[in-house]
Amino acid sequence: MNRALFPSAVTAFVKSLIVVAVVSAASVGSAQAQHAPAAAPAAAKIDPAKGGTLYDSGDTARGLPACVSCHGAAGNSTIVANPKLSGQVPNYIYKQLVDFTGPTRVNPIMTPYAKMMTDEEKKNVAAYVGAQLAKQGAAKNKDTIELGRKIYRGGIADKGVAACASCHGATGAGVPIQYPRLAGQHQDYTVAQLTAFRQGGRKNSVQMTTLAQRMSDDEMKAVSDYIAGLK
Ligand code: HEC
Ligand code: HEC
Repeated sequence: MNRALFPSAVTAFVKSLIVVAVVSAASVGSAQAQHAPAAAPAAAKIDPAKGGTLYDSGDTARGLPACVSCHGAAGNSTIVANPKLSGQVPNYIYKQLVDFTGPTRVNPIMTPYAKMMTDEEKKNVAAYVGAQLAKQGAAKNKDTIELGRKIYRGGIADKGVAACASCHGATGAGVPIQYPRLAGQHQDYTVAQLTAFRQGGRKNSVQMTTLAQRMSDDEMKAVSDYIAGLK
């Protein structure tokens, strides 16, 4: 395992906590200074239950389909091209739904849906799927499991590929708020994303593009199969 890389993920996480703390301290301070506890602008409260209703039923009036039809009950997709969303880091889900509306992650299926969703709906659905229990997946290829494990835990030193574990966590559970969960994901979907990062079809992460450009097809397949079996 490439331990040298762990601190960067941890530092980023700690920094994000510090930023939150500083920002809330600052806003408390200014409210006190003004002696006017003016009502904060009504930021809608994130509502996972509303997100669950949208996930299960969609909104026929707008032509927005039920997410469950492709992503499975409680986000546990059984179709290998459709990612599992259960247990995913909510901030990551929200970011993807925003990215689908712009040029960095264009997808013929998801882009129109993401454009139909309000910001509030994106946050609600993200909170809903993030709270669902992720069902396990399984690795399928005994011949590549060792290579996959090596890449996941130690990277590919001679190609400058960092260990996946250094950002996504030792068990692939993800590290809120930046690093998505990978554990248990369908291997086909993971291979497709790594390929899209490499080819530029998906360009919403410089870190992932750089890494993917250094990986061969066989390395991508091996690590994706290993990831499917992580729990
Ligand atoms: C017709 C099938 C279909 C429906 C319906 C659908 N999706 Fe998707 N979704 C996909 C596919 C396929 C992808 C993978 C896109 C890609 O390859 O980049 C995806 C990707 C995503 C991702 C990115 C996940 C990740 O790990 O990066 C999110 C988030 C998502 N969908 C949310 C939703 C939500 C919320 C709804 C309901 C409003 C929904 N989807 C409805 C097929 C669908
Ligand atoms: C330097 C940190 C870093 C390292 C190392 C890293 N990743 Fe990532 N990865 C990210 C970030 C950040 C994202 C989220 C990108 C975004 O916001 O869309 C991501 C996203 C992904 C996704 C997309 C997940 C999804 O649901 O669509 C896959 C797949 C992935 N990484 C696989 C890997 C693999 C395999 C490795 C090791 C070879 C690896 N990553 C190493 C930071 C990293």
